[in-house]
Amino acid sequence: MGKVVVAAAASGCAVVACVVAALMVGRSVRRRRGWRRVVRVLEELEEGCATPVGRLRQVVDAMAVEMHAGLASEGGSKLKMLLTYVHNLPTGNEKGIYYALDLGGTNFRVLRIRLGGQRSAIIEHDVDRQPIPQHLMTSTSEELFDFIATSLKDFVEREENVSEPSQKERRELGFTFSFPVKQISSSSGTLIKWTKGFSVEDMVGKDVSQCLQQAMSRKGMDMRVTALINDTVGTLALGHYHDEDTVAAVIFGTGTNACYLERADAIIKSQGLLTTTGGMVVNMEWGNFWSSHLPRTSYDVDLDAESPNPNDQGFEKMISGMYLGDIVRRVILQMSQESDVFGPVSSKLHAPFILRTPLIAAMHEDDSPNLNEVARILKESLEIPEVPLNVRKLVVKVCDVVTCRAARLAAAGIVGILKKIGRDGSGGIASVKTKNGIHKKMRRTVVAVEGGLYTNYTMFREYLNEAMGQILGEDVAPYVIIKVTEDGSGIGAALLAASHSASEVVDSVQLL
Ligand code: BGC
Repeated sequence: MGKVVVAAAASGCAVVACVVAALMVGRSVRRRRGWRRVVRVLEELEEGCATPVGRLRQVVDAMAVEMHAGLASEGGSKLKMLLTYVHNLPTGNEKGIYYALDLGGTNFRVLRIRLGGQRSAIIEHDVDRQPIPQHLMTSTSEELFDFIATSLKDFVEREENVSEPSQKERRELGFTFSFPVKQISSSSGTLIKWTKGFSVEDMVGKDVSQCLQQAMSRKGMDMRVTALINDTVGTLALGHYHDEDTVAAVIFGTGTNACYLERADAIIKSQGLLTTTGGMVVNMEWGNFWSSHLPRTSYDVDLDAESPNPNDQGFEKMISGMYLGDIVRRVILQMSQESDVFGPVSSKLHAPFILRTPLIAAMHEDDSPNLNEVARILKESLEIPEVPLNVRKLVVKVCDVVTCRAARLAAAGIVGILKKIGRDGSGGIASVKTKNGIHKKMRRTVVAVEGGLYTNYTMFREYLNEAMGQILGEDVAPYVIIKVTEDGSGIGAALLAASHSASEVVDSVQLL
């Protein structure tokens, strides 16, 4: 009897052991299958985001072609190629105290700047930076501008209490408004559309300077907007102030855009445009660039379709700080839905824009052996706890693929501008004969760059610089210098306010 019990118990144990073993094998097979699935998602992502140099050159050509088309006729291209009426960049002789206001990304800034009159003189400036309250980004123009005017008023009062007041009878202000604006003059223009998540509907079509001017009057302020500019134009102004070889400026921040100095006679859509310098800064609004050569994945398609501005800002949605984190989130969500390597699908993965780009930069650049930062961010931001090291590595790889594509496309965009203005070396490099032999010589070309994506995200910067070298080649690349300006979007506005100030020049752009 005892033997029977023991035998039954033993066979029961054997059954349990078999079941446990089968379960374990099943789990490990499933885990392997799950792993294979996420690897496939990664491989598809890599394929979809591939940017070999040949493809980048196609993007360069497409950018140059679209620039021509946008200059030829209104609506001739998705690139708006907007006139800025800025033809005189600051010379360095500007003097006096000017204010600047910078609205365009996640933050809003007010600056007070003293210009010494000598290029090398230190530009003193004080800054007040505040985040834009989320609700104002989708409110009414009056609410938004009242908030701005109040902050400006507080800042002016504070500043003039502690330092000498502006000597001008009326304070002058450069307003950096970093959205597409159809300029009417260098100090006024109407908003074409919003980007970067702003959506203050009653503003579209309104004169931006007038909105600010009216809000300032409501607050009893005596201040005049003497320059209304895009942030790229401010960056170009400051870049040029420091280095006269600066011909273009690019922003890589929440949004992305570029401007450059164009010959007035090349702006065919404004025939008869006369400027004293024969040139004008053109705001490309390159965030809206599109070409069939851009490598697009299903994640980009979905991100675009679910955005407030579908079919718009396609280049920006692949490159800028506002979107990179969200592309990564979408890929991780896909992986998590196709396998259990991340555990149960976290509800956080469904929340748009929860994974901000600084977080993907932090994960991408985590150099701890166990990728502790990756683990922390996955846990704290996405509520995905305890993922093994190989899964953390996978996440780093996703960040790498998405950022690498962004940076390389950005480089192609820059070379596209250089090509349009004949500074990419494709027209040949002059040979100069010296007593030591024949040397190749090209004009030095500086591109001013600003924005946290470039300055704070090392891998983005490195990929961009590397791609510039690959596209331009080793003979030309040393002549093209990417130079970071600091606060150009703000200081540049004050510089332009000064150079366009009534006391300095009479606006000398004419349309015949
Ligand atoms: C805007 C541009 C701006 C860029 C960078 C884009 O979304 O359309 O006007 O220059 O962001 O701030």
